[in-house]
Amino acid sequence: MIVAENLCKSFYEGNNKEHVIFSNTSLEISKGEFVIIFGASGSGKSTFLNLVSCLDNIDSGSLRINDIDLAKISEEEKTLFRRKNIGFIFQNFNLIPTLTVEENILLPLELNGLYVKENIDLSLSMLKTVGLINKKSSFPEKLSGGEQQRVALVRALSHRPEILLADEPTGNLDSETAEVVMNLLMTLREDYAPTTIMVSHDRDLIKYADRAVYLKNRVFHNEPAELEERDTNNASNITL
Ligand SMILES: Nc1ncnc2c1ncn2[C@@H]1O[C@H](COP(=O)(O)OP(=O)(O)OP(=O)(O)O)[C@@H](O)[C@H]1O
Ligand SMILES: [Mg+2]
Repeated sequence: MIVAENLCKSFYEGNNKEHVIFSNTSLEISKGEFVIIFGASGSGKSTFLNLVSCLDNIDSGSLRINDIDLAKISEEEKTLFRRKNIGFIFQNFNLIPTLTVEENILLPLELNGLYVKENIDLSLSMLKTVGLINKKSSFPEKLSGGEQQRVALVRALSHRPEILLADEPTGNLDSETAEVVMNLLMTLREDYAPTTIMVSHDRDLIKYADRAVYLKNRVFHNEPAELEERDTNNASNITL
């Protein structure tokens, strides 16, 4: 469903020096699968989510989602693709401060032309599932971090996107609250199993995922053990 093949991506620093993030790496994620990506800070985890959500472009290789080659669609098509197919959860929640909880979770419906009773009811029932229906008229600043993230879960899924991307969604939460948020995420996913890519530093979260991949030295690995071998044998590969 999500297929990256020989993916290459670099950024250019001020002095025009190339900073290679991905070098000929491949990764295949099946429909409905929940994959967790681990990797050191700066290894390119968020960059990968940005590529999948068309917020950034690959340099070469290919990245296909449902057989759509993301390199071959226009900027306008990318915006529409993202709006319809992607739900995003961020470390810092990113709720819109001037909108109430209810307005925040219904925004994806409005943006996608899906603002009809059936969908609104479904979103409100998700808000009920995460235990916050009584806060629907509150503004985000009145909520705790864990509550804001529970609202963000509902907002990410209210338009029922095929793909859920989560960038360290529990990074700002204590471990107990993180557990609550992850369990709610799993409950909401039960409904229709969106393909999920979650980035995290927390190895304890592996239990929620179908599979973990490890990003190091510009490529995805299936096993953490491979990394250690690569590190010692291929020290010259590491960019300093
Ligand atoms: N738009 C950009 N322009 C230039 N460099 C960038 C850009 N976005 C990211 N980078 C660089 O690319 C590298 C990978 O960044 P990325 O944010 O993907 O890392 P990450 O794995 O998500 O790290 P963290 O765990 O700290 O969030 C970093 O060195 C970062 O500075
Ligand atoms: Mg990141």
